[in-house]
Amino acid sequence: MKEAADNSVDILIVTRESQIREDLTRWLNAEGYHCMASVEPAEAWTILQENDLSLVIADLEPPELDVDFLTKTREKFPDVGVTALTDFDNRETAVQALKAGAYGYLLKPLEETEVVNSVSNALLCHRTAAIQQREKDLVLRLVWAVEWRDEATDDHIRRVGLYSAALAKALNWEKQRIDEIELAATMHDIGKVAVADGIQLRAERLTKEEFAVVRKHTQIGARILDGSRFSLLRMAREIALNHHEKWDGSGYPKGLVGEKIPESARIVAIADVYDVLSIPRIYRPAHSEEDVLDIMKAGRDQHYDPRIFDCFLDLLPEFQRIRTEISLD
Ligand SMILES: [Fe+2]
Ligand SMILES: [Fe+2]
Repeated sequence: MKEAADNSVDILIVTRESQIREDLTRWLNAEGYHCMASVEPAEAWTILQENDLSLVIADLEPPELDVDFLTKTREKFPDVGVTALTDFDNRETAVQALKAGAYGYLLKPLEETEVVNSVSNALLCHRTAAIQQREKDLVLRLVWAVEWRDEATDDHIRRVGLYSAALAKALNWEKQRIDEIELAATMHDIGKVAVADGIQLRAERLTKEEFAVVRKHTQIGARILDGSRFSLLRMAREIALNHHEKWDGSGYPKGLVGEKIPESARIVAIADVYDVLSIPRIYRPAHSEEDVLDIMKAGRDQHYDPRIFDCFLDLLPEFQRIRTEISLD
């Protein structure tokens, strides 16, 4: 037997079968994991509350331990991964478990190598998810810092991210790019960090010279995000640079026309304007939903990509749901 490794990873085994509890504990201890065990949901949740665990291995034996237990565990403890155990002839439950957010499943009778592989796989998924979450958290906080002068909360950037992801999904983007635009879109105005307060926060109309300074936030944003090898940041750069371009070529900084404007930026243009018009600004109150739509519809063929705009109109209930969730003050 190999020497037990660092046992900093804690695993909770939930099963009524003592043999399974013993086998899993023995096999996983040998791999250096620290195991706890419980026989029913309430006890499992108490253990989860009191300990900093990484993974739950749940033996799905209805009625007490069913897919519902798994769903609730994911809801109550989103930072904890779950792997399901089911009977060999119960693959249906295994599929349901995956749908409910399990990282994987094991079919009984259990076999040591399979268990060990599945657990290390689940822990890897779990770590990746935690890193992605941390990345998102960091970006949102930094972007919020940039927008601090303009925004009392980070709600605007979060909504623009979620609206953009909803549009990308409706346009059949692949999953990875949908996740990326949700975060990349939040960075659209990062170049505003270089625009002086006096100009940015002013209520009266800007002079031509002042407006030229404001327009520069697109190029400054692109410079800040330039040169990364990560697709997330490359997309963020594309959005920062092009989110004020307009379909008919009357936008800035370059006056790009139609599909010359990257699709990501065409999406964010709609998401951003929809949100900005819906929130009160220093120089005007919030517009009603009806007014927002009237104003935006007037720009369907000039400002926005009409195809994406029509998608946006179809998605209005989804946008409204996001607005309620990330609520307006
Ligand atoms: Fe902007
Ligand atoms: Fe914005």
